[in-house]
Parts: sequence; structure tokens; C-alpha cells
Amino acid sequence: MGLRTEKAVQERMITHIVGNRPQFIKLAALYHELEKEGCEQNIIHSGQHYDENMSDVFFRELHIPKPYVNLAAGGGSHAQVTAKAMTGIEEELLRTKPALIILYGDTNTTLAGAVAASKLCIPIVHVEAGPRVHHKSNPEECNRIVADHLSDLLFCPDEISMQNLRREGLESRACMTGDIMYDTYLAIAKEAGQEETEEETIVMTWHRQENTSDRERMESILRLVERLDGRVVCPMHPRTRKCLREFGLWERAEGIPNFDIIESVGYVEMVKLMQRAKLILTDSGGVSKESSFAGAKCLFMLDIDIWEDLSDIDWLHKVDPQDEESVADALHFAAKAEHVPVADRPKFYGDGHAAAKMVQALRERGYI
Ligand code: UD1
Ligand code: UDP
Repeated sequence: MGLRTEKAVQERMITHIVGNRPQFIKLAALYHELEKEGCEQNIIHSGQHYDENMSDVFFRELHIPKPYVNLAAGGGSHAQVTAKAMTGIEEELLRTKPALIILYGDTNTTLAGAVAASKLCIPIVHVEAGPRVHHKSNPEECNRIVADHLSDLLFCPDEISMQNLRREGLESRACMTGDIMYDTYLAIAKEAGQEETEEETIVMTWHRQENTSDRERMESILRLVERLDGRVVCPMHPRTRKCLREFGLWERAEGIPNFDIIESVGYVEMVKLMQRAKLILTDSGGVSKESSFAGAKCLFMLDIDIWEDLSDIDWLHKVDPQDEESVADALHFAAKAEHVPVADRPKFYGDGHAAAKMVQALRERGYI
């Protein structure tokens, strides 16, 4: 730790390592806050996400400078993506010798960055540290645990994440900042203007491995969509599109009268969609949390408890599309859902100033 801090004082460059859509959204707030401090920063893009509307659009809309390198690690199996990203990140870190690296969330890019930087004794900051689902079958769980244990400073989005880290003996490195996605959400919601509530739709996102790798499972999700009362707008992740095609379900999906499949969208459009929603149907960690920012209750299509506070108040309601009883219960939940006014929304994820708290913590610990 002493050695790492000495190194941080010698060299000034802060390197952000990102590669996935939600990481660009988190990066935006912290990058701009560090910019205000006059910090020297650069960005490594692993290339895990690579389509225009999965990557470039976020840099453009959120005014993030172009990454100085893209490692083109996307499009393979877990090990392939992780290995390619790790090798590329190691080369870059050896060449540029940053003082500090910053990692985000729980993807294969996060894992690759944590392992590469740790072995080069470069201090690591992990943003969105501490969530646990207590299921190894969830591929992100392994990434979260490794990244948290290898990092020097852990920024937590909520109190439950702090408790998880305490249980794992990581309390001294943990710092409760609130959720950085809330910073970006608020900035974009402000730009987007007044919330529109006349046409209340159901917004759906769907991409997790658990919900796209099995034909039966995908078909049951389509049946659930069909039974919902209202227009279901789904900006579809490219993985889901590919899997529906591979399983011969694409025409079936397109033929559902209330199902409006669109290309995945940039963050400005996504925020507008969520602001108009009466309900969100998703398997996304980020979107299920954002539902509380946007005032739309959430049907969650995974059997994990990632945001326990939201589950405890039945804001986030789990549904198993393959279980008739669970679907009936979900349809009942959906039928009661309506857009919730700002004053009545849950407030578990800080005050929208997480990035400023992170910068303060970095300053106090001598990293900047
Ligand atoms: C990854 C993360 C997940 C996160 C999600 C954010 C891991 C293990 N998973 O899942 O935690 O919730 O990002 O969206 O890291 N594809 C494209 N174009 C793209 C991106 C992906 O066509 O721009 C297709 C490719 O076929 C690719 C597949 O989607 O193989 C899966 O992409 P991948 O990044 O491995 O997983 P995600 O489902 O995006
Ligand atoms: N998102 C977006 N456009 C879309 C779908 C999602 O901007 O078409 C945003 C969403 O609002 C959230 C983030 O992307 O901020 C979540 O990404 P994703 O669901 O891919 O990942 P997860 O949160 O599950 O890791």
C-alpha cells in the first residue's frame, strides 16, 4: 500500500478502464468532476461493446473524450473477452505507467483491468463496489468479488453494498458515495426537461446471459410481453436480437402486437423513455435501479436480489417467466403500476453528487 501511494505521488496520470455501455454512463460523471480538479486523465476502451449505439453514442452525448486506445476485445466467450482485454490493458499500463486506474461495475472488462493493474502494483479504484447477489451462477458475481478484493479504494452505491464489504473484511477501503449513475441520470433528465406522462408505456430491456441462452426461456419472456396490458417498448441489445434469430424466434417476437422492438438507444433517449414509463420490465442491474430515479416500478426477470432495498419495498418485483404462478402475480403487479411522482420515489442511492464525494475521497487519501 505504501509503495502504491509513493508511485501515485510520482506520476499523475489517471487511467479509466471501460468497455461496456453502463460503464460509459458511470465514467461521464467522474471524468468531468476530475477535470474540474485539473487532473490528467486518459481512457482505455476494451472494445467489449463496439456497435455505434452501444459505445460511440455515449461518448458523444455525455461529452466524454475519445479513448486513446480501443483493444477490440468484444464478441467472444467470457474467457476470450477477458483474456484479450487483460493482455491489451497490461501492455498499455506497462507503456504509460499511470498513477492510478479507475474501474467500473462488474463486467469482464472490470475483471481484466483489476487483474492486470493489480499485478503491476498500480493502485485501483473500484466504482460501484459491494453489490452481491450471492449466486456464482450469475457471471458478474465473480467479476465483482475479484475487482473488490484487488482494489485499494471502493466506492459504494448504497448502504447494503457497504455492509457486504464489511462482511468480507474490506471496510477500511470502502467509502459510501451513493450511486454515480444517479449523477448522470439527473444531468440528462434536467436536459431532457419536463417529464411527460400522458402516454404511459412499459419500457423493457433484456440482455442477460441467463435470459438469452435458452430457447424455452426466451419464448416464455415473449409470452409474458404478450400478456402485458400496454405498449411495450424494447430498445433491444444486439445479443438478444442475435439469440432470437438463432432460436428462430425473431418473427414470433416481431409479430406480437403490443411489442415495439427498436434499436438500442443512447442515454438521452433512454432517460426520456424511462421518464414516460408506467412500468419497467428488465433483467438489467442498471435499469432496475434507474427505475427508482424515473418513477416507474420494476418487474425484474432474474432470480437474484441485487438491489435489496428496492425489493424490500416491493418497488422491484421479481418474475420468473417460466412459472405460471409468478407470471400471474407479475401481471397483477403490472396492472396496478403507474408513474410515481418525484416526492414518492425511493431514495436509496445518494443525492446525485457521488462523483464529487469520490473526488474528495481521492484527495483525502493523497491519490490526486
Ligand atoms: C455485458 C456484461 C454485463 C453487462 C452488459 C452491459 C459481462 C460478463 N457481461 O453483457 O454484465 O450487463 O455488458 O450491457 O461482462 N454484441 C454486439 N455488439 C456490441 C456488444 C455486444 O453485437 O456492441 C453482441 C455480441 O454478439 C457479443 C454479445 O452481444 O458476443 C454479448 O456481449 P457481451 O459484452 O459479452 O455481453 P453483454 O450481454 O453485453
Ligand atoms: N441503456 C441505454 N440504452 C439502451 C438500454 C440501456 O442507454 O438501449 C442504459 C440504461 O439506462 C442503463 C445502462 O444502459 O443506464 C444499463 O446498461 P445494461 O442494461 O446494458 O447493463 P447492466 O446495468 O445490466 O450492467
